[in-house]
Amino acid sequence: IQRVRQQIRNLGKSEANVLITGETGTGKELVARALHFHSLRADGPFLGVNCTAIPENLVETEFFGIEAGTATGVKKHTGLFEQAHGGTLFIDEVGDMPAASQAKLLRVLQERSMRRIGGDREIPVNVRVIAATNKNLTEAIAGGSFREDLFYRLAVLELRIPPLRDHRDDLPLLAQHFLNVFENKLRRKTAGLAPELLQQLENYHWPGNVRELENEMERLVTLADEGQLLRPEHLSPKLRSVSPSAARLRPSSLLLRDAVDQLEREMIAEALSRHNGNKSQVARTLGLSRLGLQQKMDRLGVTNPNADKQ
Ligand SMILES: Nc1ncnc2c1ncn2[C@@H]1O[C@H](COP(=O)(O)OP(=O)(O)OP(=O)(O)O)[C@@H](O)[C@H]1O
Ligand SMILES: [Mg+2]
Repeated sequence: IQRVRQQIRNLGKSEANVLITGETGTGKELVARALHFHSLRADGPFLGVNCTAIPENLVETEFFGIEAGTATGVKKHTGLFEQAHGGTLFIDEVGDMPAASQAKLLRVLQERSMRRIGGDREIPVNVRVIAATNKNLTEAIAGGSFREDLFYRLAVLELRIPPLRDHRDDLPLLAQHFLNVFENKLRRKTAGLAPELLQQLENYHWPGNVRELENEMERLVTLADEGQLLRPEHLSPKLRSVSPSAARLRPSSLLLRDAVDQLEREMIAEALSRHNGNKSQVARTLGLSRLGLQQKMDRLGVTNPNADKQ
């Protein structure tokens, strides 16, 4: 959590688009909001849209808006890109965006302007896009359901939120946080979490991540008596029955190599954005030769968003 916080502070001042990846319930939306409120756009609007929640034929109307009279009875609708002007647009579940809309979105990110459906005027776009997905976009690209060029536009910076099972040391803190939240909300004070209960939380593998922990803590407080010490037998059945070995059998998915690659990718992308894509300056800042930088960029798949301006 500390590492993610630090990254939010570092990335916030950058204007680059961000792709947030992570399993369900890891806090992607929370991180997107935090990025916005730490950014230079904090005074501008923050708008969120979930690609799975809009019917496929309305996705483009939602994003780009529509002029009145485009078809019989169509009223004018202002799209999200215009509503979010000067702020941040959070595109959730971007991996589920229909192919045709992906092409339009790519165009907006490249041209920094758009047209309303049925409109003939180019409207300048001043929006930072933060996208999120719990899908593996690399696989989606290989399978042909996600555009690679769009991926690189969105993932100028990539923020991976680890699953809760990979940062179990944060569990006591998070559990205590949610305990306080629900004690206040339900106006009931318990005697706190017994060490055996905390141990049981650490043994569980948390497929639903922080959201699942939040729900578990709400259940605990809801069922507790005033002043009661919360013990393992008060947990829901799935948590009561886990054994310590089950947790240890699940290895962390984060390999050191991947973590190093990820850090390099982020630092290079950040430096490219800061130096307007000037590779000589970037190489100097990062202590690399220009050739060394280029080789790293090729290996890590980092593209230079300003390449066309040079
Ligand atoms: N570090 C944290 N501290 C406190 N609450 C958190 C933290 N991370 C996540 N949460 C809470 O967990 C819940 C899930 O977070 P969020 O909705 O951001 O997840 P998500 O990654 O967008 O999930 P999904 O992929 O299912 O949409 C929210 O109620 C959020 O407030
Ligand atoms: Mg979400």
